[in-house]
Amino acid sequence: MNTPAVIPADRLPAHVAIIMDGNGRWARRRRLPRTMGHKVGVESVQTIVRAAREIGVKVLTLYAFSTENWQRPATEVTTLMGLLKRYLEKELDTMLANDIRLMTIGQRHRLPAEVRGILDAAMERTAENKGMVLNLALSYGSRAEITGAVRAIAEKCRRGELDPAAIDDACITSHLQTAGLPDPDLIIRTSGESRLSNFLMWQAAYAEIYITKTHWPDFREQQFHQALASYAGRERRFGKTGEQVRADTGPTP
Ligand code: FPP
Repeated sequence: MNTPAVIPADRLPAHVAIIMDGNGRWARRRRLPRTMGHKVGVESVQTIVRAAREIGVKVLTLYAFSTENWQRPATEVTTLMGLLKRYLEKELDTMLANDIRLMTIGQRHRLPAEVRGILDAAMERTAENKGMVLNLALSYGSRAEITGAVRAIAEKCRRGELDPAAIDDACITSHLQTAGLPDPDLIIRTSGESRLSNFLMWQAAYAEIYITKTHWPDFREQQFHQALASYAGRERRFGKTGEQVRADTGPTP
């Protein structure tokens, strides 16, 4: 196991969210079918879940399948759904042993029935776990999520349950699928692209973003610790000046 450089607990992100990109490019470089990239990508998922739990991350959100990914060739979609199903079957015991709670965001109703069944069972079995939340974004898109929240809020206003003047940041946050989870502190994107790709766009307002050229199948414990170390070295200002932030937190020892 890689020993992480010591990161003080107060410099550790509570919520890490990852855009797992580059499976296809990883495979193409090796003249392998794209599906091989996804298969090896599952090994990275296993490694990063374990590493995040070990180091003390509280919420790990993984962007596993976007609303746009349904447009991929049917064979690739089938492979990804099969990998997800096998991953859940295989990892449930590990989640139970390591006090990990499984949650999901996204359009669950669009997933194949057998995947939904396994997800529901795994979420129920792990519902009381407190060590870490593993939040899988499946058929997820931020615009669809925000649209759903706007609809729900509008419906409450129409029924007279909510005054439009009372709609504030907290109200919108509480109608998103991530309600109850902290906003991501750190968003990691593998494979070098500099975009959010419809991922947690509301929640990412003050997230630190870390982009690495490493393709997801090569993103393992060492690369994860590098991302955490980069985060630990940053000053988060939330719109304040650096002087104000340093005065708030007091002198660094
Ligand atoms: C992006 O790479 C990756 C995906 C669309 C799928 C991610 C899925 C996994 C890592 C495996 C299944 C997940 C779990 C949680 C078991 P890409 O195919 O877009 O790569 P490219 O941009 O290089 O083509």
